[in-house]
Amino acid sequence: MKFVRFIMKNAALASAPKHIEHFSKFSPSPLSMKQFLDFGSINACEKTSFVFLRQELPVRLSNIMKEIKLLPSRLLTTSSVQTVQSWYIQSLMEILDFLDKNPDDFKVLGEFVDALVTIRNRHNDVVPTMAQGIIEYKEAFPQDLLTNQNIQYFLDRFYMSRISIRMLINQHTLIFDGTLNPVHPNTIGSIDPHCEVGDVVQDAFHSAKMLCDQYYLRSPDLVLQEMCSEKMKNLPMSIVYVPSHLYHMLFELFKNAMRATIETHDNSNTLPPVRVLVSLGDEDMSIKVSDKGGGVPFRRIENLFSYMYSTAPAPQRGADTRPPLAGFGYGLPISRLYAQYFQGDLQLYSMEGHGTDAVIYLKALSTDSVERLPVYNKTALKNYKVSQEVDDWCVPSTEPLDLSVHKVPK
Ligand SMILES: Nc1ncnc2c1ncn2[C@@H]1O[C@H](COP(=O)(O)OP(=O)(O)OP(=O)(O)O)[C@@H](O)[C@H]1O
Ligand SMILES: [Mg+2]
Repeated sequence: MKFVRFIMKNAALASAPKHIEHFSKFSPSPLSMKQFLDFGSINACEKTSFVFLRQELPVRLSNIMKEIKLLPSRLLTTSSVQTVQSWYIQSLMEILDFLDKNPDDFKVLGEFVDALVTIRNRHNDVVPTMAQGIIEYKEAFPQDLLTNQNIQYFLDRFYMSRISIRMLINQHTLIFDGTLNPVHPNTIGSIDPHCEVGDVVQDAFHSAKMLCDQYYLRSPDLVLQEMCSEKMKNLPMSIVYVPSHLYHMLFELFKNAMRATIETHDNSNTLPPVRVLVSLGDEDMSIKVSDKGGGVPFRRIENLFSYMYSTAPAPQRGADTRPPLAGFGYGLPISRLYAQYFQGDLQLYSMEGHGTDAVIYLKALSTDSVERLPVYNKTALKNYKVSQEVDDWCVPSTEPLDLSVHKVPK
């Protein structure tokens, strides 16, 4: 019996490429915050959500699986990337099992929730596993600019796709597992229709501060200021948002700001505070985190968002020696993806010798908050194929100029 099941499972897996081909022909359907709320409001319909997800999840999975295959083969064949790829295939096949099931059957709906929970757990370690693959690749092969650009392009899209898939799974499982969220009874799945940004700032700061105290035995304080235009004066500083996403971004920014502050002021008895300014306008909710941690040279700013670059030593997987305030160097790039996911952004403005301002831009209106999703198409394909062309700006010479030499043609 076990053998028959093994054969059947392998036969199903063998058909995966055909399904990936089919579902990657569809574009993902971005949802707005309003649609997320409607899916989870009082007249939430589990059947509608089930029918939507059994099509949409395979589409999102297949679109990104097509792109995994475009990675440089020496990265694609690392055991870490192979593992991640096998998780995606297995999860895709498990969802496809529901395509011919009856949406009116309660048992089917229950099994679907269970399957989604299994899939979510299976994919918990995707980021560290992928990061491990990148580290192995970086150590084994010399890096070139084009490959680095491709990996950056891919990982931004891959992690964005992952954020979106987890969002869909979380909404369905949280809303339809039949229990109320006892901690936040007013949230709809993971969305808070009245997310008070100041509260999330305080929470994230508190957690980062505890970590910082443990590691450095000291930590800077927080100075929080909230501003809004005259006509919004009496309104609460809240937006429709996913508090856990906002918390993630702020926690990462605070860890960075604290580390920089302490390392720059290690000879001083006092530490300059980390200042946060929350500002609500008609269009944007902006959150600025400012530190006096010495700043970063302008030339390095773009590197800070690179998955191939970090100043912290690479953490050993499974080891307890992981420095708590710096890890894979994914704090900034992943936080920027969270901000961009609902059409916002995250930018750094730094002044070397002084400090850094990190600004999170979010949409103030839920109608503007629509998922930003990668789609596999000809343009994406072309982006992996661009050849490295000769620069059309002169490369400054480090050699002293000998003006007596005659010019030679290009
Ligand atoms: N506020 C800041 N002031 C000075 N340098 C900063 C600041 N924020 C980030 N950096 C620099 O940018 C690098 C990348 O930051 P990022 O948060 O992405 O990764 P990390 O902190 O090294 O590791 P982790 O994955 O744990 O966040 C940091 O290592 C640090 O050198
Ligand atoms: Mg960090």
